[in-house]
Amino acid sequence: MTEPAASATSVLEATPPRFTPAEVSAIALELFGIDGEARELGSERDQAFMIDDGDAGGVVKISNLGEDPEVLDLETAAILHIGRADADLPVARPQLPLGLTDESDPASYRPTTDGPEGRHFVRLFERMPGRAAAPGSDLDDRALRAYGETLARLGIALRGFFHPRAGRSFLWDTKNALGLRPLVSSIPDPRHRAIVDGLLDRYEQRVTPAWPRLRSQVIHGDFALDNALLDDRDRVVGIIDFGDIVHSALATDLASSLSSVLRTRDEEDVFRAARLLIDGFQSRVGLEPLELELLPDLLAARLCTIVSISAWRVISYPENAEYIQAWDPGSWMLLNLFDRVGMDMVAQELGAERPRVASAELAKRRRQALGSAITALTYSEPVHVQRGEGPWLFDADGRRLLDVYNNVPVVGHCHPRVTEAVVRQTRTLNTHARYLYEPLMDLAERLIAAMPDGSGLDTVVVVNSGSEANDLAWRIAKARTGGSGALVTDFAYHGVTTVIAEVSPEEWPAGYRPHGVETVAADDTTRLGAETAAAVGRLRDRGVAPAAAYLDGGFTSDGVRTPAPADVAAMVDGWRDAGGLFVGDEVQAGHGRTGDHMWSFQGFGISPDFVTLGKPMGNGYPVAALITRADLMDRFAETTDFFSTFGGNPVAARAAIAVLDVIRDERLMENAAVVGEALRDRLRDVAARHPVLGDVRGRGLLIGVDVVDTDGAPDGAAAGRIVDGLRQRGVLVGRTGPHSNVLKIRPPLVFADEHAVLMADTLAAVLAES
Ligand SMILES: Cc1ncc(COP(=O)(O)O)c(C=O)c1O
Repeated sequence: MTEPAASATSVLEATPPRFTPAEVSAIALELFGIDGEARELGSERDQAFMIDDGDAGGVVKISNLGEDPEVLDLETAAILHIGRADADLPVARPQLPLGLTDESDPASYRPTTDGPEGRHFVRLFERMPGRAAAPGSDLDDRALRAYGETLARLGIALRGFFHPRAGRSFLWDTKNALGLRPLVSSIPDPRHRAIVDGLLDRYEQRVTPAWPRLRSQVIHGDFALDNALLDDRDRVVGIIDFGDIVHSALATDLASSLSSVLRTRDEEDVFRAARLLIDGFQSRVGLEPLELELLPDLLAARLCTIVSISAWRVISYPENAEYIQAWDPGSWMLLNLFDRVGMDMVAQELGAERPRVASAELAKRRRQALGSAITALTYSEPVHVQRGEGPWLFDADGRRLLDVYNNVPVVGHCHPRVTEAVVRQTRTLNTHARYLYEPLMDLAERLIAAMPDGSGLDTVVVVNSGSEANDLAWRIAKARTGGSGALVTDFAYHGVTTVIAEVSPEEWPAGYRPHGVETVAADDTTRLGAETAAAVGRLRDRGVAPAAAYLDGGFTSDGVRTPAPADVAAMVDGWRDAGGLFVGDEVQAGHGRTGDHMWSFQGFGISPDFVTLGKPMGNGYPVAALITRADLMDRFAETTDFFSTFGGNPVAARAAIAVLDVIRDERLMENAAVVGEALRDRLRDVAARHPVLGDVRGRGLLIGVDVVDTDGAPDGAAAGRIVDGLRQRGVLVGRTGPHSNVLKIRPPLVFADEHAVLMADTLAAVLAES
């Protein structure tokens, strides 16, 4: 058998010390002044004795001759550090020998004694309360979680710790798993050998290359049940052995705890128990995706370490076989289980990402599970998205797609400020608005401050969707006006609730028009005032009094329009004069998209009674808001107590605040103005060369481009082909307008010049090809 590298095994190879209890009692008295009977505790490579002096007592450890004193100092320094970092962690502290008082010098804690084969270091540790885990009895669910949490705390307490010897190399450190190869031949059963060989191969392929990226620090190294003392509820009340401390990947600490806790479970309970322990760990320290992906390999490597070292050592120390092989049966149970279910499945069971599903299969499942009413997938070849970053989406094949379609990720996909705000708040607290918490008030006040001076918009209700905000506006408007009539543009979309679907003509079936709803044509916006007067007249003729008019300031569903402010003002004034209230629907065009103002209505010089926000507000986190005046809200409150369970929860509020912060910090409104203008110029250049493109219009980064036939009439089919062509070339654009012939361009506001160039060039290439 080939021997492993000496540096990794010197402690394992050296003969363990063989002092008798009587000798140890004498040593303890001489060195530490503790007078009591010594009782030997099991240990693999050194000796440990409980000294019972009738009082607190202590645990004496006599080191192996191969022990490096600096490693003992590393242990001591770590324990002292943990005491400073988290004084409540029940770590057994070393005691100073007689005559020494310098508590800060780790070397003080290791006097020596001479044995027949040489000089041994001796340490005395405080005796901790609790008992060893009962053999064969499993931790209950709460104890499992608590165990994982204690381990995470141990890791946190060691974060700021460093010691040069923490870089030592030894075989129990999973980092050295491949150093086990020479030991594998000691495993008697060829089938077992094959399992270990296979797992080490897998480790070499998957873990070794990733190791430099695994989060590493000084870790305990063996927070196993053997190194913990438990109370009568199986909570850890003593952490007693730091002999495996080392600088290594944090996830290996979790792997060694798992290996210890799982090996006594019933097979069918292994993965469930593992997940609970991991939950406990993650209640303090979230695992990174790479850690979750590799955790099963680290766990398997740990088990391989146990069985390989035991097979190798038992050859040299057959008399200590019972101790050396104590962990083998459970370890083999786990290794056999992993072998049977396959390591990829083990990874999934422990929380790693599930494998991707083929796009066609996913589309089929979508059809079956979501039913027929759910909106169709966009593009002839649907996009199967995996992740996003800034203005980019990445599909299942890892292909990058420029997102010129999505106004929800206003500050860019997965912006770190928003993501972290959501994650942090989720970890801390998420509840509802019947309690007091700061984020909701901070958000509400930010939104009020963001309304134009003198608007009187001083009251905020945070809800969950644009539809809900518009629905609430409707209820308040009805309460205030006593009317039930609505006015919207003739292809508007304002949401999905029963009431709001009625004011969303884009969604009406052919020939449908609710009794109380009137529309104004949006294709010729100079007529908005006149159309409003006519609409009010028609409502009056039907005996319907005005309640609310809704206007999306970007006219997004109407094909993106840019009316003159006076024309919009004429619409609003005409409606108000008839007794109605006005809702500025900023769900599409708000949050700086138009480049000139934070809210699109400001560009028209009008002052709504209600402002509704949604889509971009949480950059994808569901959060929306209604902003109105206190007098309107007070009237509503006479008959209504409004509560929406998730509305304004702390996480939603944090997301919305983060979005506002990023828009400010990254000057995204200004960016929308500059890049939007440049993009329109480029698109006009393309349109000049391709008659299929007509008018190019918009404000900021909300742009519409008409697609027309040779007679200049709207050509929805051609627009569909263009949008599909762009998608094939990696640029995502939508369509809008009554004829679906308007290219809808509304990218995240982090859109830069280079993206505008790519967008326009790709459009030109698609058109050149068609
Ligand atoms: C202008 C406008 N208002 C309201 C809504 C409804 O918002 P939500 O889908 O969040 O309910 C939309 C959604 O597209 C919208 O475009």
